[in-house]
Amino acid sequence: MGAERINAVKTSFFGKGALSLLPAELKKMGIRRGLIVTDRFLYETGAADRVGRALLDAGVEYAIYYQVKPNPTIDVVNECIDAARGLGVDVLVAVGGGSAIDTAKAVSIVVANGGSVEDYEGVNKSSRAGIPIVAVNTTAGTGSEVTSFYIVTDPEKHSKMAMVDANCMVSIAVNDIDFMMSMPPKLTAATGMDALTHAIEAVLAKGATPLTDKDACWAIEVIAQNLPRAVADGSCEEARTMMAYAENVAGMAFSNAGLGWFTPWPTPWAVTITFPTASATRCSSPMCWSSTGGRPRCAGAL
Ligand SMILES: NC(=O)c1ccc[n+]([C@@H]2O[C@H](COP(=O)([O-])OP(=O)(O)OC[C@H]3O[C@@H](n4cnc5c(N)ncnc54)[C@H](O)[C@@H]3O)[C@@H](O)[C@H]2O)c1
Ligand SMILES: [Fe+2]
Repeated sequence: MGAERINAVKTSFFGKGALSLLPAELKKMGIRRGLIVTDRFLYETGAADRVGRALLDAGVEYAIYYQVKPNPTIDVVNECIDAARGLGVDVLVAVGGGSAIDTAKAVSIVVANGGSVEDYEGVNKSSRAGIPIVAVNTTAGTGSEVTSFYIVTDPEKHSKMAMVDANCMVSIAVNDIDFMMSMPPKLTAATGMDALTHAIEAVLAKGATPLTDKDACWAIEVIAQNLPRAVADGSCEEARTMMAYAENVAGMAFSNAGLGWFTPWPTPWAVTITFPTASATRCSSPMCWSSTGGRPRCAGAL
């Protein structure tokens, strides 16, 4: 086994009420001015404002960009870049699932490095760390708050651009289940299947290591136990908490092990499924089971 590199987020807050831990951390970072990056639903239902109050507690003034769409496009990213540059912000605060977090990652890289988002398609294309990102995650889910990936849709080419870049990782991840309780059963199921897919992919990936295997197998077991509970009863705090841990750990495993075979991005057909992305994952999962000719290495955990 050769040398390996592990990328991890510096600070993560977990559990019910975890947002309350954010202001003290922001104060330590000397942050003054932020842009909340979110979508219309989370803006109108008050999630963005709750995060805004935490920013004010830390002495951070902020504006809100709430035009993120599921599977964010180049246009959305460009609009948000203009907002961030115009305001001169020193932190981007994503409030949402993978779409808001990936938008913040793209904006962070372009603001710090110049050029346009298309320049960063591929592996480690940026030279400088992006401006700091706080990710308040509201789905369980993509694991984007802990991965070194982001995905931006190019509608003209009918494709998704995948950016793999250690410079895009968030500085602070908040997985507070108070932001996840509102997920309806279908969204809970679809995003949970995305997390399960990531964990299975991590086990199958060529770059899998003992560390990523351990994480991925744990995530598979926890998702198998808790996703059905979270879908059946969205008010179950224990199931939501365990799903929040599992999607995060699955994200860490697949980010460090590398991709497997069947995450649907960046295939053109995935773009046609706009909400939620995880539905596409669910559709393609059986391909994995048949093409591997059996169960993954950690099948015992299932
Ligand atoms: N960066 C990565 O590592 C990574 C990995 C997998 C997927 N992705 C990307 O993530 C995106 C998908 O993210 P997602 O599946 O988290 O969904 P999403 O962020 O696209 O959100 C889907 C919908 O759910 C709503 N929603 C979000 N949180 C909610 C809540 N708590 N209650 C009720 N509604 C809520 C949103 O308003 C939105 O309409 C895609 O663009 C995909 O390509 C990124
Ligand atoms: Fe995924």
